[in-house]
Order: sequence, then structure tokens, then C-alpha cells
Amino acid sequence: MLKGKTAVITGASRGIGKEIALKFAQNGANVAIIYSGSKDEAEKTAQLASGYGVKAIAYCANCADFNRVKEVTKEIINDFSGVDILVNNAGITKDGLLLTMSEADFDAVVGVNLKGVFNFTKHLSRYIIKSAGGRIINISSVSGTNGNAGQANYSASKAGVIGFSKTVAKELAGRGVTVNVIAPGFIETDMTAKLPPSALEGAVSAIPLKRLGKTSDVADLALFLASGAASYITGECIRVDGGMCI
Ligand code: NAI
Repeated sequence: MLKGKTAVITGASRGIGKEIALKFAQNGANVAIIYSGSKDEAEKTAQLASGYGVKAIAYCANCADFNRVKEVTKEIINDFSGVDILVNNAGITKDGLLLTMSEADFDAVVGVNLKGVFNFTKHLSRYIIKSAGGRIINISSVSGTNGNAGQANYSASKAGVIGFSKTVAKELAGRGVTVNVIAPGFIETDMTAKLPPSALEGAVSAIPLKRLGKTSDVADLALFLASGAASYITGECIRVDGGMCI
């Protein structure tokens, strides 16, 4: 479905980002894997992706760092000569109730989850508009669409991603680029593994489909949105949450 395309996926050393990178590679896309700290995991993802016969390179870049993102964009363009698809997936949590949340925890989460999306979109858009059928896919959360106690910083950042994406969808539509958002519910990754078992049990009981999501549930939608089959869909935010927010 993505033969000959080049995709940049942030936070692709593990979890949802890794699954998207491998799914894209399996479908013929060359992949640039962005990571911040876990070099070995990112190199492993790149190695697995290249097993599908595509070009795959891992790059270290803190997505919150505007200048580093600018630099890594140049490195990617040198290595791949163009970019068709950007998946802004990197994200962090620093949960706490508003009354006790520190300024540092607010700034850190917004810096990675929202400014990181701005940084990569800003620097890569000039190349994506040259693609025939450019795609930008941003990973938000049901915490951004519906709010979640204990996540004021995270919810604000993820709601910001939705507003940002709708605006960029309008700005880039004339250049043939679609911009869409995926809002996952509870997906089984290292991020949710940090939650106490009682919280996860409570979550499952509130999910109509009665299970946590898998990384492949999110990656399957990302593949569809990146493909030609989704060429008339832009500015949308689609939940992958087992019906949790119905
Ligand atoms: P994870 O914690 O397993 O992986 C996050 C990835 O982002 C890692 O590869 C990490 O190295 C990278 N990363 C973190 N900070 C970074 C930075 N400053 N610069 C570059 N890369 C950085 O997380 P998971 O669960 O795979 O989540 C992926 C995305 O999906 C995140 O945006 C998250 O907010 C979102 N999400 C996850 C849900 C879940 O239940 N797991 C639910 C809703 C949204």
C-alpha cells in the first residue's frame, strides 16, 4: 500500500510508533525512525524494518528541540531525498492533579506532545508538499477529546494537537496533503504498563469491547490514513478506543 513512499515516524523505538514503523515497512515504505533516548531499541526497530526490504534508519532527536528537529530534517532529506508521510507519535505523560501539578511537569508534557508536533510538521512540511499525496498523521488521545482527571497537562497537549491538525489540514489541502489525527484509548504499551492494575481493570470494565487496545489496532488505522484509500479524508480525528467514548 505504501510502496516507494518514505515515512518519518517519531517515538518509533517502541510501543505504537514501533508498530506503525514496522507496518509501514511491511507495506513497502522506507522509514526514518526518530527516538530520543533508547538507541538500542530504535536500532532494533530499524533492523526489523529493513528485513522487509526497505531502507530504514534511526535518528536521535528530541522532538521538543526546535533546532535539533531542523537539523535532523536535513539529515533525513540527505539520506532519503524526500519525505511523503509524517507520523507525529512521540509522547510522554507526567500525571498529577492540577492542584499539585508543577510548572515543570506542565511545560515538559506540552513541550514534547504539542511543540514536538509543531517542530516536525513545520520543518518537514516543505518537503511533504512536494510529494504526490503527502500525509501527516498526528497521534492524540481520548484524554485530548474528552479530558481525564490527573492529566491536565497531557489533555491540554493532546487537545492542542487536534486544533493544530485541523488548521494545518486547511493550510496544506491545496498542496494535496491530508492531515488527520488518531485518538487512541487505552493501548497496551510501556506507557499504560505504568498504571496500577486496578486502574487498568477499571478501564477495561468501562470499554464496551471489553479489552485494552493493541498497538496493531492503532497502526492499522495509520496505514489506512497514509494510503491512497484515504485521499479524500482530511482534518478528521478518529478514536481507536473500543467504544470507550461513545
Ligand atoms: P511509549 O512510552 O511506549 O513510547 C513513546 C515513544 O516516544 C518512545 O519511543 C519514546 O522514546 C518516544 N519519545 C518520548 N519523548 C520523546 C522526545 N522528547 N523526542 C522524541 N521521542 C520521544 O508510548 P506509547 O504508548 O507507544 O504512545 C505513543 C503515542 O500514543 C503517544 O503520543 C501517546 O501519548 C499516545 N497514546 C498512547 C496511549 C496508550 O494507551 N498507550 C493512549 C492514547 C494516546
